[in-house]
Parts: sequence; structure tokens; C-alpha cells
Amino acid sequence: MRADLYFTPQQTDELSLRDRIVVVIDVLRASTTIASALRNGAKEVIPVSSVERAVKISGHLFGDVILLGGERNGKMIQGFSLGNSPAEYTEERVKGKSIIFSSTNGSHAIERARFAQTLLVCGFVNISAVVNELRLLKSDFVVVCSGSDGKFSIEDSVCAGLLLHRLIEGHAADLALSDAANAAVLLFKAHSRNILKMVKGSEHGKYLAEIGFGDDLKTCAEIDSIPVLPQMIENVIRIRQDSERKEAAKATIST
Ligand code: MLT
Repeated sequence: MRADLYFTPQQTDELSLRDRIVVVIDVLRASTTIASALRNGAKEVIPVSSVERAVKISGHLFGDVILLGGERNGKMIQGFSLGNSPAEYTEERVKGKSIIFSSTNGSHAIERARFAQTLLVCGFVNISAVVNELRLLKSDFVVVCSGSDGKFSIEDSVCAGLLLHRLIEGHAADLALSDAANAAVLLFKAHSRNILKMVKGSEHGKYLAEIGFGDDLKTCAEIDSIPVLPQMIENVIRIRQDSERKEAAKATIST
């Protein structure tokens, strides 16, 4: 089993990620918000990278089952019903709804990986669910950190490092790491004692606190607080159930 890692989506492209197992990480905040929405009963999250496309798609679907969610510069987009704070995606607001979701970096990273064989969305909040799935799949995989406008983000990289560290603990002998993956593990080790402090000290963490979303940092740093496995299939992200996961793992192993 081999793990590759990209610190930003711009380091890779659709073709390189095609047919691979890809884990997309956007700790602040798209991964956390998508996990919250699905845990609270949203039917599905449909990620799109542009606001125009989000509005266009919503026009083709029935209004009362659709919500538009996402952000630009961390703030709710004009005309949308939800921003990108996980706290907004309550059961009351999202249960049974399809959410068309556009965020600056997270949606972009997911879009780059849309031809993956398996695309999983990961944050600190659901890290064990993703680790367990990768253990079950027992195949090479790629981690794509969403970063920030093409630049490195420490919170995504530390989260990737934790994911890899957990896998190494279980499979020390048979997980080969690329240099970038190794670097992420080292970063995680440097910050493992205080993940919240690292998140609060990150550039995007500081920015979110400045614009009034300081409470989201705690939510996004809480390990395994939202233990769901969001997986994108045919451009739609839903929670993968245990039974489906086992079937898919069997199919992957037998191919
Ligand atoms: C993104 O996708 O760029 C982030 O989720 C931005 C944010 O924190 O709202």
C-alpha cells in the first residue's frame, strides 16, 4: 500500500487523480461542514466550484428540497440560504435536503478529484471513519489537501499527517509514504499535543476568528466528533453505509 500526498489541489489534476482512491481534506471548513450537514440528515451535498453553476443547477431542481450553501472569503454568498459554518447546518435546516455547496478551496479540491474511483471527504471530525475505510480498501491512495488559494495550509496538512500516522500504526510494514506524505506525518507529530492551538494559530483560523467564526475552530478541531464517511459518487456526496462499504471493498480487492 502506498500513500501520496498533495499539499494543494493545484499540484495535481483530474487526469492524475482519475481512477484512484482519493481523500480530500479541508479542515477549515468545507470537510467539517459537509460532515455536519450529512450527519444532520441532509440527503446529499452537491459540490460545485463556481457560484454561477450552483445557482444554475438549483434552478433545475425543486425549490423546497434544495438549499444553496457555501462561502466566498469565509462569508455567506449573496442569495444563498447557508454559509460555510458547520453550526448553520442543523437538523432543523438540512434534514432531507439536497445542498448545492460552493466553497473557495474545498469544492475546488473535490472537483479536481471527481473522476476518482473512490473519493472520501475527511477532516479531524471524521478521521477514524476514513482511516477505517482505507484499512478496509487496502489499496494505494492519494491525499489532496485543499490549501488556501493554491497555497499550503497547516491545518489540512496536519490532519493528513494524523490520517497517515493512524494507518502506519496499524500497518507499519506495508504502507510506503511519498516524501510529502512523510512530511505531513512529521508536521502532525509536531502539533499532536494541541490540535486546537494549531488550528487557532493557522492563517485561515485567525481570519475566521476575525470575521466572527471563532467558535467554528473548536468544532473543526474536534477529533471524531462527527463519525460519518462522506463519499462522492457521480458528483454527489452522501454518507456511505457500512454494508455498501464492505461490498465496495470486496470489489476493489477482487479487481
Ligand atoms: C474553503 O473551502 O475555502 C473553506 O471552507 C473556506 C471557509 O472556511 O469558509
